[in-house]
Amino acid sequence: MRIVSIVGARPQFIKLAPMAHAFAQLEVEHKIIHTGQHYDVDMSDAFFQDLQIPDPDLHLGVGSGSHGVQTGGILAALDPVFTEMAPDCVLVYGDTNSTLAGALAAVKLHIGLVHLEAGLRSFNRRMPEEHNRVLTDHAADLCLAPTEVAMQHLTREGLGERAVMVGDVMVDVCYQVRDMVAQDSQPIEGVADDEPFLLATIHRAENTDDPQRLAAILEKLAHLAVPVVLAAHPRLRSRAAEFDLSLTAGKLRPVAPLAYPDMVRAVVRSKGVVTDSGGLQKEAFLLGVPCTTLRTETEWVETLENGWNVLDPDLSRVNDEALRPVPAAERGAPYGNGHAAMAAAEAIVSHWS
Ligand code: UD1
Repeated sequence: MRIVSIVGARPQFIKLAPMAHAFAQLEVEHKIIHTGQHYDVDMSDAFFQDLQIPDPDLHLGVGSGSHGVQTGGILAALDPVFTEMAPDCVLVYGDTNSTLAGALAAVKLHIGLVHLEAGLRSFNRRMPEEHNRVLTDHAADLCLAPTEVAMQHLTREGLGERAVMVGDVMVDVCYQVRDMVAQDSQPIEGVADDEPFLLATIHRAENTDDPQRLAAILEKLAHLAVPVVLAAHPRLRSRAAEFDLSLTAGKLRPVAPLAYPDMVRAVVRSKGVVTDSGGLQKEAFLLGVPCTTLRTETEWVETLENGWNVLDPDLSRVNDEALRPVPAAERGAPYGNGHAAMAAAEAIVSHWS
């Protein structure tokens, strides 16, 4: 059988890695199409190298643009490609514009569609990612859910019969890389050896695109008690420059977006994480580090139990919470045991055989 993966943005490369390895083990023909949504070396190529992902079979080079232009560009470019490749199914990941475009292109050509990381909901219809997830789940023939909560959302929306719970493939990668970097003594960029620090990322449109909101976030981070290593996404850098906001004030220590092993190492060594990223909230939880999330809600609700993750939409808690101690309570394993990719690959193969 022939499976085509569509990826374009940083978190998708991370999810692709264990899937590509699982397909190779099952000796399934697997093609990779990179949409080009993320194109900087440190947002894209570095992940393929570090996570030993085979090179894409095709790169669409779509690049940045408004949501309509980006989504539409990918959709139009995939039409002839899918027709020629004639896959048994198309696999899309997560919630980006590349996900939705890949989903639409597949269903329009009556090609089977699988959505990995199905059933996540923020219930915030202003987030572009929320439209992308809901629409993709409803278009998919097979919804692969990472958690019980995701399964419940799918069931409530009438998609239960197409859904299979496989666990979270990001756990597979996160644990492998954690074990790889555990013994190394590589420095953390931006801070001295043994200096306590917080790790921060801010990239979501709702936090970066309003000058007052972004100024308030940077002001809070700059006044925390320890250095804040700020792994700056290109969107953050460009908005900060546009609004004339400093990324170096006070405790801020801006660095380029981190390669995945560097990110895992930085989380493990940090005193806490402050973020609006979905993936990083969960990585902090998996790696046993307290996280403060600058959003009104999270799709990864399991991280909130016992205070591992705290939501701070109005920036009233970050000052007190960012450096809170590690909670005493056990975390359990709501995201699975690190073998989700093989379960996902087997679910796909059995659906189409
Ligand atoms: C996208 C996803 C988001 C995901 C995030 C991870 C959508 C709607 N959003 O957001 O769900 O959490 O990726 O990073 O798909 N840029 C560069 N170089 C790059 C990539 C982007 O400079 O390699 C700049 C461009 O100016 C672009 C901006 O970053 O306009 C935003 O990129 P875009 O792909 O639109 O969305 P992200 O904010 O990265």
